[in-house]
Amino acid sequence: MSRSYDVAVIGGDGTGPEVTAEAVKVMRAAAKKHGFGLTFAAFDFGGERYLRTGEALPDSAVSELRGFDAILLGAIGHPGVKPGILEKGILLRLRFELDQYINLRPVKLFPGVETPIKGKGPAEIDFVVVRENTEDMYCGMGGFSHRGTPDEVAVQTAMYTRMGVERALRYAFEYARARRQPRPWKGLSADDVKAGLKGQVTLVGKTNVLTYVYDLWERAFHEIGRADYPDIKRDYNHVDACCMWFVKNPEWYDVIVTGNMFGDIITDLGAMIQGGLGIAAGGNINPAGVSMFEPIGGSAPKYTGKNVINPLAAICAGAMLLDTIGERAAAAAIEAAVADVTARKLKSMAAGRMGYGTAEVGDLVAERAS
Ligand code: IPM
Ligand code: MN
Repeated sequence: MSRSYDVAVIGGDGTGPEVTAEAVKVMRAAAKKHGFGLTFAAFDFGGERYLRTGEALPDSAVSELRGFDAILLGAIGHPGVKPGILEKGILLRLRFELDQYINLRPVKLFPGVETPIKGKGPAEIDFVVVRENTEDMYCGMGGFSHRGTPDEVAVQTAMYTRMGVERALRYAFEYARARRQPRPWKGLSADDVKAGLKGQVTLVGKTNVLTYVYDLWERAFHEIGRADYPDIKRDYNHVDACCMWFVKNPEWYDVIVTGNMFGDIITDLGAMIQGGLGIAAGGNINPAGVSMFEPIGGSAPKYTGKNVINPLAAICAGAMLLDTIGERAAAAAIEAAVADVTARKLKSMAAGRMGYGTAEVGDLVAERAS
């Protein structure tokens, strides 16, 4: 076999291992059909291991994971562990140390999936959010003074570097150029199309209040766009208005680029308009390194082991993984298989209401992808 890839699988907490098992099943089927090899290595990082050993990630983990072509992650979050420990100790640590500086989150309504947005369908709800993934308030700069007293002060800094902003912006412009099905009408007027514009990137920020960091973003956006991406239309939304337009006119968006904190928030809204966390996937991407793909929902502990959780988000994360390592045809085949299953089979995206169990949904997609 000429092409072969090593994938690390961190099932994680709660329903994480159940959904990654289905993603692995589907990826194996697609790999067989498309003539490449996949090997999977399981890692037990998560809440159980933390409770047993007292460490979220062993120090060897990062260097070991660097040896893989990609990582598939289920979910992190355990009811017995104080919030923040596993998130920071596993998820954020891997994002930072592997320099996965892009968080790519498609907001795509699959056929047959119900959206709470009246009058909108798959043609209108189909865009991607490029979330910067290593800076902003996530960088951990800040502290307390007079903690626990009436004079307490807490500061948490939104830090951005020109380098960090620039690489996120370039990724977004390149992504807009490369979207495989060009949608020249997306957010573009007839005049824009006549003028030769082929795609659109919307910068989401808050330039009216965050006049330092989003000023940096806005200047870099226009400088880079003007110089290197004249074929891509540039648009700007304040983040609060963007939340309004997600609901009212999702068809205006093609590619969105934004900071880490705003990106975190608007992609949960995005997940809802595409039918819920059961189907929303994302990738933590280092274009020159090891990337990590995950369903964007949590560990859903109350559904653990019941065979009711929806594995489609993890399966879509698996498709993104294959796309990123260069197996485009296999990735597209999985997406098409998911679309067929959502259109013809599943009653709902919600856990316990799909009309099938977790493993059966995996089987339905795997059959169609093989
Ligand atoms: C996400 C999550 C994480 C984030 C948490 C768990 C640290 O909400 O991936 O969107 O804020 O990035
Ligand atoms: Mn989030």
